[in-house]
Amino acid sequence: MNEKTYNIITFGCQMNERDSETLAGMLEEMGYVHSEDPKASDVVILNTCSVRDNADKRFYGVLGQLKHGKEADPEKVVALCGCMMQQEIVRNNIKKRYPWVDLIFGTQNIEAFPELFERARIPGHKRVEEIVENGGEIAENLPSAREFPFKAFVNIMDGCNNFCTYCIVPYTRGRERSRRPGDVLAECRALAADGVKEIMLLGQNVNSYGRSRLEGAGYYIGDDASGPDFAALLREVDKIEGIERIRFMSSHPKDVSDDLVKCFAECKNLCRMIHLPVQSGSDDVLRRMNRHYTHDDFLRIVDKLRAACPEIAITTDLIVGFPGETEEDFEETLRLVREVRFDSAFTFIYSPRPGTPAAKMEQVPDAVCHERFDRLMDVLHGIQEEKSRELQDAVLPVLVEGPSKTDASMLTGRTEQGKVVDLPGDPSLVGQIVPVKIVKAQTFSLYGELCGSD
Ligand code: SAM
Ligand code: SF4
Ligand code: F3S
Repeated sequence: MNEKTYNIITFGCQMNERDSETLAGMLEEMGYVHSEDPKASDVVILNTCSVRDNADKRFYGVLGQLKHGKEADPEKVVALCGCMMQQEIVRNNIKKRYPWVDLIFGTQNIEAFPELFERARIPGHKRVEEIVENGGEIAENLPSAREFPFKAFVNIMDGCNNFCTYCIVPYTRGRERSRRPGDVLAECRALAADGVKEIMLLGQNVNSYGRSRLEGAGYYIGDDASGPDFAALLREVDKIEGIERIRFMSSHPKDVSDDLVKCFAECKNLCRMIHLPVQSGSDDVLRRMNRHYTHDDFLRIVDKLRAACPEIAITTDLIVGFPGETEEDFEETLRLVREVRFDSAFTFIYSPRPGTPAAKMEQVPDAVCHERFDRLMDVLHGIQEEKSRELQDAVLPVLVEGPSKTDASMLTGRTEQGKVVDLPGDPSLVGQIVPVKIVKAQTFSLYGELCGSD
């Protein structure tokens, strides 16, 4: 039997990954099977990201490679979705330069995919294009094909109201909309019943979950104006039998409530880690970024989190070369990094995003950005090396996820703090949380042994 195949290439963040799982679930319900090879697949979806220029460039590179396959098999369907497609300028460019693309849809009408796809499958159809801006409530009960049987993403909200001056996301994902708590909890319970042990609660800014109703800006929860905030939702998820690890991503420092801090001391299944993007250590840059906190505010939040949970791992995002960043501003960032001692950090060189306020500000020369980026990496790596060494001989619970990416004869897993550990072991351990002794701690990798394995 000649089965129809699909492949989805996902750029960007976990929000996009979660959307791709929904699209995969829909295609599988239509009888398509996953294929590893986008060029040979009957359907290819590119789920795009516009957060930085290099994500744009990678997308155009991959799209260009699909042209020959489409010419050889005109029935092949090439579909584009995700954040880039919410931008009119991108859609116009694709119309001009890639007229063979069959289907374009956006971040806020994923649920329409099966119907749009039916239209795009008809031989000789015109290009199908449907974009929704500021879509209503997040659609419920969509299918999903997850990568791992034992861990899952659960979207609790979408969109962003913060408008950091460098960021495109509020323009591509629309205003904040939170799902009803009952729907979130029902999904978590169903996942637990399906054998899922670890849940990652997702949103651009999870700690403003449920709050958009107060600002009258969102669609929250409609009928339940007294619904819970993020901390209350966490406590409910924490009660679900079978879920042994809860993570969340991302949180904005300005919205870390005392109640959320308390959750780290009280919730038994909440992983002791938080991703808290600080972006810069300079008060002036933070003000011009529209972040609504200062260097000292951030340190106070870190102090509170460590007082509630001394072993909490804190990770962050940092931007180097934001417009107008001076050497003194940058040194404030280095100072903050040394003060906090982040467990790890995603570091980015500022990338101007057309249509955002910062793109019109005076830019920092490339050479200065790169020089600062290298200095920042040196400081971060030094700290990471020290933190890694502190783990030598520790025994930590590890959720085993599968074969190691660097050595297929080894297994790989994650500690509660999100650190990757490679270990020898039987593949039957995959999906289990096991005690692992760290036998070799290097800056970027940890090696362990199953406790009691000798
Ligand atoms: N909503 C999340 C938050 O505020 O914490 C993060 C969303 S964004 C997808 C992830 C990271 O990309 C940001 O924290 C920021 O560091 C980085 N980023 C966003 N816009 C950028 C830009 N124009 N140039 C460089 N980095 C950028
Ligand atoms: Fe972008 Fe800021 Fe919203 Fe995060 S909080 S998605 S950085 S605008
Ligand atoms: Fe990129 Fe959109 Fe995520 S711009 S980082 S895929 S929200």
